[in-house]
Amino acid sequence: MIDYSHRFKTLETNVVHAGAPRPNIAGAVVTPIFQSANYLMEDESEYDEVRYIRLSNSPNHLSLQARLAAIESGQAALVVSSGMAAITTSLLAFVSAGDHVLAQKTLYGGTQSFFDHDAPRFRIEHTAIDTVNGGPEDWEAALRPETRVMMVESISNPLMEVGDLEAVVAFAKRHDLVTIIDNTFASPVNFRPLEIGIDLSVHSATKYLNGHSDLVAGAVIGSLEHVDRVRQLQLHLGGSLDPHTAYLLERGLKTLALRVPRQNQNAQRVAEHLAGRDDVGRVNYPGLPTDPGHEVASRLFSGFGGMLSFYAGDDARAERFLSTVRIPIHAASLGGLESLVVRPARSSHLGQSPEVRQALGITDDLIRVSIGIEDADELIADFDQALGAA
Ligand SMILES: Cc1ncc(COP(=O)(O)O)c(C=O)c1O
Repeated sequence: MIDYSHRFKTLETNVVHAGAPRPNIAGAVVTPIFQSANYLMEDESEYDEVRYIRLSNSPNHLSLQARLAAIESGQAALVVSSGMAAITTSLLAFVSAGDHVLAQKTLYGGTQSFFDHDAPRFRIEHTAIDTVNGGPEDWEAALRPETRVMMVESISNPLMEVGDLEAVVAFAKRHDLVTIIDNTFASPVNFRPLEIGIDLSVHSATKYLNGHSDLVAGAVIGSLEHVDRVRQLQLHLGGSLDPHTAYLLERGLKTLALRVPRQNQNAQRVAEHLAGRDDVGRVNYPGLPTDPGHEVASRLFSGFGGMLSFYAGDDARAERFLSTVRIPIHAASLGGLESLVVRPARSSHLGQSPEVRQALGITDDLIRVSIGIEDADELIADFDQALGAA
């Protein structure tokens, strides 16, 4: 019988060792890739005990799931085929036709689009709530007898806002709502939502958890009961992770506790530098003391993350910056070792009208940066040459 249950005290040790198969399978130091769809029938008495990739119970799944649960203080975790599979499967596990969701007003584009276009076909409605400038009184007004879930993000895209997450937990508990947080931007190194009472944490594991921009995967972490409910639905929706990707994700995950602190430090340096330039507009980064999210982030997070955004001044300057910056790659996605730059108005938020974007503060000159692990001085010098003399 292989045991996947061991975990250690610290995240640093857990990312390397938690949940690794014991005894080591065939003596292998690393969990080998179990590229087998199905397994020998033994004495299984229940369907759940049949081993099959879609049931997320190959050794690659079991080891990775145990590790993810350990690093984010959960009892259990489920890995799935993408961040969107993690989000939609989790939501649908807790809402039925006629139900209602309170959803943070600035959600990842894919999640927002699911709420706007897909969920209504199943008679699932949502109301946008403001977790940054609004509070429990406003949320109370949006609450309905059929509200079941509150969906939030730890750091919002692309303005890096941090909502009052403790108030969200208190409100949800008072009204018996399930809380789901997308913790992709913060990563478990900077924030572990279950420790403040959030029910389910979901990730695009494509980003920081893997960290190498070479796979797409998702993760759901929570109590045994909550994760099991998502697992039961995943069996039927079918968004399982293949073992080879699980192996790669486990490999990438091992360096999470080295990568993220370096990305935090680099982002802090770049954000401070940009904020000090007179010719750059506001810099959105919760690590800046002037940032509206700084107070909550300082209280709840152990680091401010590797994501920031800034206003280049005008459209032409933003375009010039993107075409002259040499180290960051002009590409969507985030959380990898390499710095990336992108214009949200031309990518993630292209589907929204210019008026809506303007109202949200997502103007044509806003540039979002995913900071990598490069040398901070060299990154800063590159930003300076691309922005021109201050
Ligand atoms: C915050 C956030 N959540 C979820 C997703 C979706 O993840 P995936 O592309 O792995 O499905 C993304 C992707 O960019 C994201 O940024």
